Amino acid sequence: MTPLFVPGPVDVAEDVLQAQTHPMIPHRSAEFEAVFHRAEQKARQLFYTRYRVFITASSGTGLQEAAVRNLAREKVLACVNGAFGKRWAEVAETNGKTVTRLEVEWGQPVTPEAVAEALKQDDYEIITVVHNETSVGLENPIKDIAAVVREVSPDTLICVDAVSSLGGAKIEMDAWGLDMVLTSSQKCLALPPGIALGAVSDRALARAEQVPNRGWYFDFVRLEKHRLKDSTPATPAVSLVFALDYQLDRILAEGLENRFARHEAMAKRVRSWALDRGFGLFAAEGYRSKTVTSVKNTHELDIGEINAFLAQRDMRLANGYGALKGKTFRIAHMGELQMTDIEALLAALDDFLAEKGLR
Ligand SMILES: Cc1ncc(COP(=O)(O)O)c(C=O)c1O
Repeated sequence: MTPLFVPGPVDVAEDVLQAQTHPMIPHRSAEFEAVFHRAEQKARQLFYTRYRVFITASSGTGLQEAAVRNLAREKVLACVNGAFGKRWAEVAETNGKTVTRLEVEWGQPVTPEAVAEALKQDDYEIITVVHNETSVGLENPIKDIAAVVREVSPDTLICVDAVSSLGGAKIEMDAWGLDMVLTSSQKCLALPPGIALGAVSDRALARAEQVPNRGWYFDFVRLEKHRLKDSTPATPAVSLVFALDYQLDRILAEGLENRFARHEAMAKRVRSWALDRGFGLFAAEGYRSKTVTSVKNTHELDIGEINAFLAQRDMRLANGYGALKGKTFRIAHMGELQMTDIEALLAALDDFLAEKGLR
């Protein structure tokens, strides 16, 4: 495997890739429905939910759209402290919702206090918030945010983007009182891109029944009707569902707690390496991501040059996102990566720094 230290698409294990090569079968068949059923049941464990998980033939952004279309007639409170929170606000706006943005400086967390304040100003049907802001390497305190939403505005549904953290960091949907949690296949689940998973609570599904113009493809009510028959309204990504079924077995065999601990240990190692070498970390202390670290480019290195150097060792990291390009670089530690991979990357980066006379 060529270690990709980018926050998705990540490396996929050879046997998981192989699982996609299962011969095609009709999706309207008992054989496929059995696979779909198994995958959905196992996926619930990742979300720590007793509710349903919709598996859609889309990337995660499709489910950001599904959240706003199904759960809000009009008013959305969108937390924005990075590129993907911003995207979710735009998705809501372009679907005709009235969106209030709770803007927070990038690198700083969305705090429960700020959310409480915003909820006291107006009534919102849903709040959208990103658990792990991939663009800045920051984890928002979802559990605490959810607690204040439940307290201050109990009818506001809590929608969480866990695209770059689900399966790598613990998110307890039911215990935290979340209404929708969505993720993509190509990040911590270490699958190829192309499917998304969205867990939806009963009260969220009940809300969807009351919301007009939910569209067709991502209509939760329609998805649920089919899910109850272990099926989907339209043709699913059959090969990816085979891979998902297989990969969920691998993930559960590792053990979720072990998997989270592996991600966290890699995160700690990368952070201490960066600080040790005189770099800064972009995200505020106490809120640093367990799955991707955003390193401040304190030494003003050319990120393209770093990647050219790493390419000789078949490795690659990610530049800063958007306006942070060149100002930060990101090291992902998610999916199949092991501490030995991280050590190899950091050793290579040390060699690069030595070449630049920085070590
Ligand atoms: C936090 C977050 N949300 C949403 C997305 C968009 O996901 P997708 O590309 O699967 O639509 C990404 C992609 O990197 C992400 O990191």
